[in-house]
Amino acid sequence: MQDKPNGLPTTQPNGEKLKSIIEVALDRRATMNFARGPVPDEYLDAILLLAGQAPSGYNLQPWRFVVVREEQNRRRLQKVAFKQPKVAEAPVVIICLGMKEEWKARADEIFGEGAERGGLQTESWEQARDGALNFITNFQSMPVWVTRHAMIAVTYLMLVAEAYGFDTAPMEGFDPAGVKAEFDIPDEAEVVALLAIGRAAEPDKKYTGRFSLDRVVYAERYGEPWHQVGQNQATG
Ligand SMILES: Cc1cc2nc3c(=O)[nH]c(=O)nc-3n(C[C@H](O)[C@H](O)[C@H](O)COP(=O)(O)O)c2cc1C
Repeated sequence: MQDKPNGLPTTQPNGEKLKSIIEVALDRRATMNFARGPVPDEYLDAILLLAGQAPSGYNLQPWRFVVVREEQNRRRLQKVAFKQPKVAEAPVVIICLGMKEEWKARADEIFGEGAERGGLQTESWEQARDGALNFITNFQSMPVWVTRHAMIAVTYLMLVAEAYGFDTAPMEGFDPAGVKAEFDIPDEAEVVALLAIGRAAEPDKKYTGRFSLDRVVYAERYGEPWHQVGQNQATG
């Protein structure tokens, strides 16, 4: 496996500073329409490398990404994504997969190297590997397990792209069987999302609001109200 990436771009392509994590969370919209113009290769690599830093159970990293940039391929993808215009408009659309089998073949490498790098707190990495395989295959629903992990990586993709000044659109509107057939994706894969990356055509989608904390957060036990402190309530 690789060490942490270095030499990543430290500004947006236009030289502006990266967005802060707060700006990223507040600015990101699921863009409906994209303008023309590429995502430069070094930025696309940086977005993918940083998404790869996402956490996963036992560091098994069961996500895989098919990066679709050729126009004819985006049009093929659009056909199996309910003709959503953004699939053809955005310069990059990533097919985000969770692999239900393939990760098992990499378990030795992950546990062995994890131990070598001093990151495993057990005496034998083989025992740790066997425990993990047993837990995942016997106690987890595999579609849920791969989706859980792949979506964290998709979220990293979105947020890193936003920090670099790009716009994104996550999509669940596609036919998984059609996507698999068009792009030679193995049967065992769960197609968890499509993610378009590019620049929004102006104006970007409007903010549509969020629940207040008292409607989605509980204190200590389900149903117990959470009392928000401070004056940071959103206005407008
Ligand atoms: C997993 C996921 C799947 C989505 N699928 C679609 C989609 O197929 N088409 C679409 O137009 N928007 C899709 N959206 C965008 C949502 O509609 C959007 O995130 C939501 O309305 C909130 O808007 P905002 O992200 O701009 O704040 C999806 C969002 C997520 C997180």
